[in-house]
Amino acid sequence: MADQVSEEDILLAKRIISAAERHDLPALKVLLKEGSANGQDPTASTATSPLHAAILSCGDAKHGKEADENAVATVELLLQNGAIWNDLNKEDETPGCIALRLGQKKIYDLMVEAGVRAELLFSKIAALGLGDDAEEEEEEADDETREEQPAAKKQKVSEEQVKAIQEVVEEQVLDDVSLDNRAYLKSQLRYKPGILLDESDNAVMMDWETQIMQRHAETLTPKKGLRTMNVGHGMGIVDTAFLTHDPAMHHIVEAHPQVQEKLRREGWYDKPNVTVHEGRWQEVLPKLFEEGVVLDAIYYDTFAEDYAALKEFFSEYVIQLLDPNGKFGWYNGLGADRQICYDVYTKVAEMDLYEAGFDTAWEDINVPSDLHGSSKWEGTRRPYWTIDVYRLPVNTFVSSS
Ligand SMILES: C[S@@+](CC[C@H](N)C(=O)[O-])C[C@H]1O[C@@H](n2cnc3c(N)ncnc32)[C@H](O)[C@@H]1O
Repeated sequence: MADQVSEEDILLAKRIISAAERHDLPALKVLLKEGSANGQDPTASTATSPLHAAILSCGDAKHGKEADENAVATVELLLQNGAIWNDLNKEDETPGCIALRLGQKKIYDLMVEAGVRAELLFSKIAALGLGDDAEEEEEEADDETREEQPAAKKQKVSEEQVKAIQEVVEEQVLDDVSLDNRAYLKSQLRYKPGILLDESDNAVMMDWETQIMQRHAETLTPKKGLRTMNVGHGMGIVDTAFLTHDPAMHHIVEAHPQVQEKLRREGWYDKPNVTVHEGRWQEVLPKLFEEGVVLDAIYYDTFAEDYAALKEFFSEYVIQLLDPNGKFGWYNGLGADRQICYDVYTKVAEMDLYEAGFDTAWEDINVPSDLHGSSKWEGTRRPYWTIDVYRLPVNTFVSSS
């Protein structure tokens, strides 16, 4: 059941939103001692957070309304007080989307920085296992010393509740197989001219990315005779491009049975210097490492895997398989349906790569100008790419650059 919001809470939220909108720092500082930096006004026609309000009222920089110091300080104050960087209003805009639309560069950069901080923090918390389990253990220990207070004991989640939660998650995955790698790998794919679709109508790969794939292969193989590997065959665009650079060996790792079938049909197993590995990279790569395989170029472009998988890929496997002077490339598509998310994930990846020992060089590629709103997306669940520039990464070991 949704929490009841009192009249008093609504009034306070309205006052915070109003102070944020006016960039009234003294009032905002006082109000934030009592109320939340994320309070929304449920009675307003557009649910707008204080951050949305503060940025919207800056006006359009293209019409000479550059955000002043007060506006910048208001945004900073809200962020310091825990305002959520990617909260959505009813127009489906994050605060950063508004800053971008209004051309408020300084504020947009602040929002990107806030997004990067939040995402790095979340991933650290997840890595340290400070989620529910740690909390539960801590509370259990507390409970043992407070046995005389049974009311304070944390209610355990019953088996039925766990089952109910699992059912909801599985239902979501069934509705969209791209939410789970194993569900995707079991799903039926459809190869159509210029597009590969999964069972939930997600575009797994499209031919408008040919130029991007060719450039990835080019940046990773500056000369002939290199030892190369591509993870995720899809439509075979990048593998075809790799072969034009005459590698001494080219490994392809592919986990989906229908894509493996395509590889077989098209004779990839018999091509000179090509080795196809059937299976998930998570299972194939440890074996290659044990066999002593060393590579000059590794490219990663899978599907239905999240950022954590990419991070595991480069921080656990690329560092083992790549020659000290080798190059690593990956498909940089996370968050590509919203500019601020793309910018945040691009920065987070660059920082994590650096921590894993890699430098990143970026090359900007304009996507085809007729892509947005084009008929190419007909029959797909949603356009996965709505922004104008693809940022192509090339990674080398820090010590080699
Ligand atoms: C986006 S497509 C790759 C497109 C490719 N770059 C091209 O040029 O056509 C992603 C591919 O990764 C494969 N894949 C998904 N998860 C995988 C995994 N864990 N291990 C290996 N391959 C995987 C998919 O079956 C799919 O063929």
